[in-house]
Amino acid sequence: MHKKISRWVKDKQQGRKRALVTAYDYPMARFAAAAGLHGVLVGDSLGMVVCGDQDTLNVTLEQMCYHTRMVQRGAGDCLVFADLPFGSYEKSPEQAWESAGALLRAGADVIKLEGGAEMAATVAFCAERGINICAHIGLTPQRVRQWGSFQRQGTSDAGAQRLQHEASVLSAAGARFVVLEAVPDVVAARISREIEAVTIGIGAGPDTDAQVLVAHDLLGLEVESPPFARRYLEAGQQMQDALAHYVEDVSNGQFPPRRAH
Ligand code: KIV
Repeated sequence: MHKKISRWVKDKQQGRKRALVTAYDYPMARFAAAAGLHGVLVGDSLGMVVCGDQDTLNVTLEQMCYHTRMVQRGAGDCLVFADLPFGSYEKSPEQAWESAGALLRAGADVIKLEGGAEMAATVAFCAERGINICAHIGLTPQRVRQWGSFQRQGTSDAGAQRLQHEASVLSAAGARFVVLEAVPDVVAARISREIEAVTIGIGAGPDTDAQVLVAHDLLGLEVESPPFARRYLEAGQQMQDALAHYVEDVSNGQFPPRRAH
């Protein structure tokens, strides 16, 4: 097993929590590594928070490889996760393996794909061929056009049971990690206890093995953030203030200063 991943497995067994954040470029990866993050996710959320789209469906494999290359240069000891974007893996296990290969060559350590039990054969195909897979269930943003909105999942008894089943099937198929997005805390806690894979929660309560947040939410770079995200900084406002200050200085002749020579 990848040395970095065995540390995650050990931490799950010993109840030590791990923290991830999304990163889309070199500086963010460098800050994350210096801050002691355990992992960075090159998420296809970049379609929304970097490109300004309404959802993640326009993101391409080429874009994901481009951003993964930048991130791995700054990621240091962080485990680098990268998303397979919509349309690059759903058709067949072979298609997923080829797309995952492109992300691995770009520098990813772990490849993430969305979907439940229907993706188990793909997870097994890739895992058996040495690719570290992270599954992603619950709210899967690539299916948002099918659902019509970003909806919490697993809120009914039947929904919760379906999620538990999917998590155990994906873990048994060889997924090393399972992201649980926007699911009830109790469901996430139960799944985390029951499966071998390391669970990574987002909007899933405190009892998953690890947590992930979108960097733009955590840092206050988005205008609005989902209710489960904590904004640790209002960097967007601070950037805007700094830029306005610069405009003012230029307008008033305060910048640049006059030099003697
Ligand atoms: O793309 C992304 O940022 C993600 C996280 C929300 C888990 O998939």
